[in-house]
Amino acid sequence: MNWIALFFSILFAIAYTSTAPDAVNVSEWPTFSLPINPKPLTNVKKYALNNVHAPETNIITPNHFYSLTEDGAIKEINDLGQSKTVCTVGGRPLGGAYAPLESTSTTTILYVAEITKGLLRVTLSHLPSTPPIITLVSFLNPLTNLPILYADDVTISSKGIVYFTDASNLPVPLLPGSVFKRDTLGTSIKDGIRGLKSGCILSYDPFKKATRVVKQGIWFANGIAVEGGGKYLLVCETFGARVLKVSIEEDTFGETEVFAEGVFPGYVDGLSFGEGGKVHVAVPSPAPKAVVLLSKIKPIWLNTLLRSFILTLPPLIKEVPYGCFVTLSEKGEVIETRVDYKGEEANFITSVEERDGKIYLGSLKTNFIGVVDA
Ligand SMILES: *[C@@H]1O[C@H](CO)[C@@H](O)[C@H](O)[C@H]1NC(C)=O
Repeated sequence: MNWIALFFSILFAIAYTSTAPDAVNVSEWPTFSLPINPKPLTNVKKYALNNVHAPETNIITPNHFYSLTEDGAIKEINDLGQSKTVCTVGGRPLGGAYAPLESTSTTTILYVAEITKGLLRVTLSHLPSTPPIITLVSFLNPLTNLPILYADDVTISSKGIVYFTDASNLPVPLLPGSVFKRDTLGTSIKDGIRGLKSGCILSYDPFKKATRVVKQGIWFANGIAVEGGGKYLLVCETFGARVLKVSIEEDTFGETEVFAEGVFPGYVDGLSFGEGGKVHVAVPSPAPKAVVLLSKIKPIWLNTLLRSFILTLPPLIKEVPYGCFVTLSEKGEVIETRVDYKGEEANFITSVEERDGKIYLGSLKTNFIGVVDA
């Protein structure tokens, strides 16, 4: 046996006896682009500085500003940037949306995605009380009883139908010593290396109390936003580095096309509609050089074997500070890319929300919500 054969036999043995997930064949790797129409992401104001930790998603209602933070809280933030915990969901809320049709003058209804619980309905009363939280959807499909393992983001149509993503079928382990903080980042990196398209989009109709699978087979189904007219959803397929457009009209329900691809300088996370049909897409990290190199290794079986082996190792990818989001037209063309190459003013942006001429930036890293002019 020569050394090369021995080397691969060892790789093979390690990859196939470990408990790490197996990599699968990937026939198409994502393509990245240098920032198109780049503009510096500067003059970022720090809203709620030190009052929020890792404010992944922000929910802006007509009268309130809420932030979903790492400590499992929904925090209400006032104009001065002071925060008040209005609810703890007993887990990590990654995404959420405001339900205008179900809210009243004294209560605010939010739908929230908590990683392992799934889709929650939270009633925030403006009077002092404990907000009731109802778990609505915890299984992908009541027939197969497959649990939701990575509930991620939520959007609500003008008809009040709730759409949400389950990013992956990889379980997200608790971080050592934590009661409910989970290793979302490490698990997502594993999902990217594994290559299996296991993410999906579900819908929940609160009036009929019915759940449907909208679309399966997404390589990490992340941020989601419904178009105002309720004809389609946009969803970030993180490890495809692209945005998909999924029909929610009855006769073409679930039909999917690519909305934007090959135009992002890195992976994509949260997205939302801004003024005039613009679409803002968060790019938390640049394309990792190691992954780009790995994607070039051929043949396919060797590529898959190497990735299976890498999955048995402790995480190797070093995060680099970086802040970026891309604004697309309603046709999916890049209007501009705002980028802070060193991540000095904004870092690891996970969500972008435009409201009244301002853009609010959520993050998995910062202790503030970044605010820039739209
Ligand atoms: C992966 O690719 C290899 C080589 O092309 C092939 O032999 C193998 O059957 C593929 N596996 C799957 C699950 O498609």
